[in-house]
Amino acid sequence: MSSLKGLILSGGKGTRLRPITHTSAKQLVPVANRPVLFYGIDAMARAGIEEIGIIIAPETGDEIRDAAGDGSRFGVKITYIVQDEPAGLAHAVLTAEPFLGEDSFVMYLGDNLLQGGISDLVRAFETSRPDALILLTPVADPENYGVAELDGDRVVMLQEKPPEPKTDLALVGVYMFTGAIHDAARAITPSARGELEITDAIQHLVNTDRRVEPHIVRGWWKDTGRLDDMLEANRLILETIETRLEGTLVDAQIDGRVVVEEGARIENCTVRGPAVIGAGARLVDCYIGPYTAIGEDCVIERAEVEHSILLAGSSVRGLDGRMESSLLGRNVAIGRSDKQPRAYRFMVGDNSEIGIL
Ligand code: TTP
Repeated sequence: MSSLKGLILSGGKGTRLRPITHTSAKQLVPVANRPVLFYGIDAMARAGIEEIGIIIAPETGDEIRDAAGDGSRFGVKITYIVQDEPAGLAHAVLTAEPFLGEDSFVMYLGDNLLQGGISDLVRAFETSRPDALILLTPVADPENYGVAELDGDRVVMLQEKPPEPKTDLALVGVYMFTGAIHDAARAITPSARGELEITDAIQHLVNTDRRVEPHIVRGWWKDTGRLDDMLEANRLILETIETRLEGTLVDAQIDGRVVVEEGARIENCTVRGPAVIGAGARLVDCYIGPYTAIGEDCVIERAEVEHSILLAGSSVRGLDGRMESSLLGRNVAIGRSDKQPRAYRFMVGDNSEIGIL
């Protein structure tokens, strides 16, 4: 069993997922009806990591504590570490120093999903014992990522969003460090955007002759920080589900792989998988298309919904057109109004986006 620790970063601002992140942590947005964060905790547990520190922000920390608890249901022990302000990934590492001590650790961004898990990475780290090991994946648009330049099996240069990238190897949101990262994080200064950047801390390791090795990921990797990525992560995870029908089905046509949780009721509907329908949801006279995740206690009546994520308690009623590629927060109500005058009526929070037929 490994004595490595885990560090999951679940603080941050989440500006790219507003308005969802005005009221909730983006790491708790469900992918196939399960918070993104839980996939990271699972990956660590599967790699044999028993002690996990989770970085939380003061605003959303309680919600994360309530969701993940003490970790026992994942088979791990979770310690919560409050980061007073989202001052960067290297700042998060320094905040966690009392928890980490001199131990080696895996750092995992709490809004990231990695298909193959992290067991291979942990094995590579334990075999070759570098000062840091960074996960990389080839991407089509490296100018939008942190990019690594290699010399054999050594990382020699890291650049944040270079206008003219020298390689197509982007940094994935998973890293392995020894205690050497703390001094490196202390040695750097904030970047132009005012954050202590983990890429700068790793570059400092390289510059001071520490051994930083690359590990190329197999399988897909998704950063769910934006709506389109969240929907794609939902699609990729739904691709892996198996049919399980535990709710009540009345005149329901179920095509392909679909999960209907206990207590859900589906009446006079077609559900075409892959899709998941949460506990207590009520679906009447509707069509649910592929890549849809309907949260607990949602209501859908006389509507068509496809390639979307609905959080718990939301409702969609009486739509003429099909709703697709949408993310609804908790307790959102979308419906047809019979009030006069005949007009669109909205009550929508800051930074919401609405597309009209
Ligand atoms: P990002 O997605 O890079 O940053 P962010 O959460 O502030 O989002 P946005 O760019 O949309 O405003 O952060 C990656 C992960 O690391 C995410 O799970 C949040 C977490 N994080 C921290 O825990 N502390 C921090 O100081 C920062 C910057 C991020």
